[in-house]
Amino acid sequence: MSEARNREGAKLAIVGAGAVGSSLAYAALIRGVARHVVLHDINGAKVRAEALDLAHGGQFLPEAVVEGSDDVDITRGADVVVVTAGAKQKPGQTRMDLAGSTVSLMEKVIPPLVERSPDATFLMVTNPVDVTTQAALKISGLPTNRLFGSGTVLDSSRLRQLIATTCDVAVGNVHAYVCGEHGDTETPLWSTATIGGVPLTEWERTTGRLGAAERDEIAHRVVNAAYEVIEGKGATNYAIGLAATRIIESILRDERRVLPVSRMLDGWHGMSGVCMAVPTVVGRDGAGTQLEPPLSADELQRLRTSAEHIRSMAVGLGF
Ligand code: 2OP
Repeated sequence: MSEARNREGAKLAIVGAGAVGSSLAYAALIRGVARHVVLHDINGAKVRAEALDLAHGGQFLPEAVVEGSDDVDITRGADVVVVTAGAKQKPGQTRMDLAGSTVSLMEKVIPPLVERSPDATFLMVTNPVDVTTQAALKISGLPTNRLFGSGTVLDSSRLRQLIATTCDVAVGNVHAYVCGEHGDTETPLWSTATIGGVPLTEWERTTGRLGAAERDEIAHRVVNAAYEVIEGKGATNYAIGLAATRIIESILRDERRVLPVSRMLDGWHGMSGVCMAVPTVVGRDGAGTQLEPPLSADELQRLRTSAEHIRSMAVGLGF
């Protein structure tokens, strides 16, 4: 592949070629988000095989070059670096159970990546993603807009899909966010959720659906969605691959989508000094303005609890 060809478009580096990294690469290639997609993993045979398998589909994809290597140098000069490397969540484990090993891994993984792509935007996906992001931010020394986590973009998609099915409307017409930790303390923002401009809290009056009990059931299913998938197939990969691809698209195409990514809070509803997912404008400069939707007292309380949960874990690990 020639240098000239490389310069034609964006370079996306994916670190970790496990189920999540490979699915992310697949989604990114199908959606044509970058002209150069590289995978890096310490398992050389695996990463080269994944890249080869993806490259073999080139005829059916938007034009792109795909490569894989166990040499971190392959990531050099990336526009976006996505970190998916880390331990897999076993059935019964919470994401937070992975925090200690993940943070130690980030201490090794992040510096060589920043050294090779000092101008890149970094997207953290490895769980527990909020703690990972907080640690990686400190390790990297990058500004908070250029290193952030995938947060609850996936959880919000799960919420929207369940609402859409319950209300029999297209998922694209549901506007609803899950915020907080990407994990057990996350919370859906029901008070500002809408379908076609109708607040979801009004939906019961007109249709008899989505009363308080049904909303609680949906929230429960969203929080436990990953456990259900992990129980059945050992990992979640497709939906997180698509969610991360949506974030990358918004960065590389400067789409300025409002996505609940996990960026360091600085006064959001009075909360600061912790990486947590809230609706954020994502574009060329990374994670920008954090929007402050009005919250019910219960939502505010739950989000404060979520922020404290992340903070205590991160502080306990020295971040
Ligand atoms: C997920 O929510 C496990 O964080 C991963 O699918």
